[in-house]
Amino acid sequence: MDLKEIITGRRSVRAYEDRPLAEETIRELINLGINAPSGSNMQPWSFVVIEDKKFMLEWSDKTKEVLLGQVETNKYLQQYKAVFENKSFNIFYGAPCLLLIYGNTSSPNHVFDCSMVAQTIMLAAFEKGLGSCWIGFAMTLGNSPQIKEKLGVPEQYRLVAPLVLGYPRGTWPPIPRKEPVIFTWMR
Ligand SMILES: Cc1cc2nc3c(=O)[nH]c(=O)nc-3n(C[C@H](O)[C@H](O)[C@H](O)COP(=O)(O)O)c2cc1C
Repeated sequence: MDLKEIITGRRSVRAYEDRPLAEETIRELINLGINAPSGSNMQPWSFVVIEDKKFMLEWSDKTKEVLLGQVETNKYLQQYKAVFENKSFNIFYGAPCLLLIYGNTSSPNHVFDCSMVAQTIMLAAFEKGLGSCWIGFAMTLGNSPQIKEKLGVPEQYRLVAPLVLGYPRGTWPPIPRKEPVIFTWMR
């Protein structure tokens, strides 16, 4: 696969085989991800790897409960009401691996830096025949003191990018992109 095929072929995958990833695969993806640039070269990222599906399911159920409680007051969340009410919906889609990228808030650029690590990992995963999906819903609990303590995350770190990874089930068609708007092209 050339770079263009990797960039255009990556999709958010929302169904996974019940097959774990090799530890060395996860380590390799992290090691590729950290080649991303970072503001002032601070490299403010750290990682949590979760392969405990029971823990992920509990996290998912709790997230749906919390978000359902916010649906009435949060206009954005209203579109997801039926999803949160669906008992069988798992925000992590049954993936075998949840990779959390936490950023050190002492760097003013930690959100940008960690986001670039995330995209690099998702592209590298695709090149290896793996699926990935950024799970924004995981932000709901990922910064809670209870979860951070359980996962050994220091206080000054904030969750930026929760990614699921695994072997995809099915094929995932391309999602059309809007025409890019170029406000100005000054010459
Ligand atoms: C910040 C962010 C949060 C996202 N959160 C979720 C999520 O919680 N659940 C999900 O299924 N997809 C999530 N996605 C994936 C997007 O829905 C997806 O990227 C978009 O629909 C385009 O599809 P593609 O990734 O296949 O190109 C998220 C993506 C980003 C960048």
